[in-house]
Amino acid sequence: MTLPKAELHLHIEGTLEPELVFELAARNGIALPFADIEDLRSRYSFSDLQSFLDLYYAATIVLQTEADFRALAEAYLDRAAAQGLRHVELFFDPQAHTERGVPIEAVIDGLASALEDAEERLGITGGLILCFLRNLPVESAMATLDSLGDRTSRILGIGLDSTEVGYPPELFTAVYARARDLGLHVVAHAGEEGPPAFVTDTLDLLRAERIDHGIRSLEDPELVARLVAERIPLTVCPLSNVRLKVVDEIADHPLPAMIEAGILVTVNSDDPAYFGGYVGDNYVAIARAFGFDDPALAALARNSVIASFASDSRKAELA
Ligand code: ADE
Ligand code: ZN
Repeated sequence: MTLPKAELHLHIEGTLEPELVFELAARNGIALPFADIEDLRSRYSFSDLQSFLDLYYAATIVLQTEADFRALAEAYLDRAAAQGLRHVELFFDPQAHTERGVPIEAVIDGLASALEDAEERLGITGGLILCFLRNLPVESAMATLDSLGDRTSRILGIGLDSTEVGYPPELFTAVYARARDLGLHVVAHAGEEGPPAFVTDTLDLLRAERIDHGIRSLEDPELVARLVAERIPLTVCPLSNVRLKVVDEIADHPLPAMIEAGILVTVNSDDPAYFGGYVGDNYVAIARAFGFDDPALAALARNSVIASFASDSRKAELA
């Protein structure tokens, strides 16, 4: 699956493979609550988003230094290049690290330096999207944004992730207004487990340029019409939706209905170390489940470039 494409919904902490968890734990002298790689992998069975997040945050404790964040991003970028990715916009969760005492500078500098080198090393362009954890107080999100200082220039945009139900988008209206004033792109998770009204509010109150997941949008025909009319991209993650039981199985995924409705849909991997595959595996899974032919897959790959925040000249190169 080497169609030139972009990945727009990828949590870099969700690329932390068990082997790297144990390597970094040894390097940093951290005792893990898992016996070994097999034991950790055996826990990759989730009942919902929260059950996954509990394990995802437990594993991130091995990430301590700038070099760790750089190693994490380099490992992902190598895999990304092998799967035909030419542009990647990486989500990261700084509060998951600063809450443990890791300086935000170490997180940003490690990830950003790996991305910068990837341009020359692998021909991949991209940027960092700083996600706020919606289950933490909004004051923590604002403080995180304020703490960026001159590192704001190393950030492409902001996003919103973690536990969705119970944490509506309106909580973050002021944070998003501040980020827009700083000239940052704005995206947000919505409509993964939360209702379609969260998608509508994310557009109206946060003025998100893209919606991450958004698959519950189909429950609201007016919202679907708006997404189509305003060409709002949805970054859909089919294998994630199956693993987190948002859909029962891949054959039940609403992706074909979304495409049929005329929504600008992209295919992404979310947290590939945990969900059974990287972006190419997601393309293969939907091709098999829905009988998508090469032109249909190429159209999805084109959508990913169109929906990206790459420069116009880079988009033209990737067209
Ligand atoms: N953080 C990492 N993966 C996530 C997802 N699929 N939804 C919300 N927050 C996340
Ligand atoms: Zn996500």
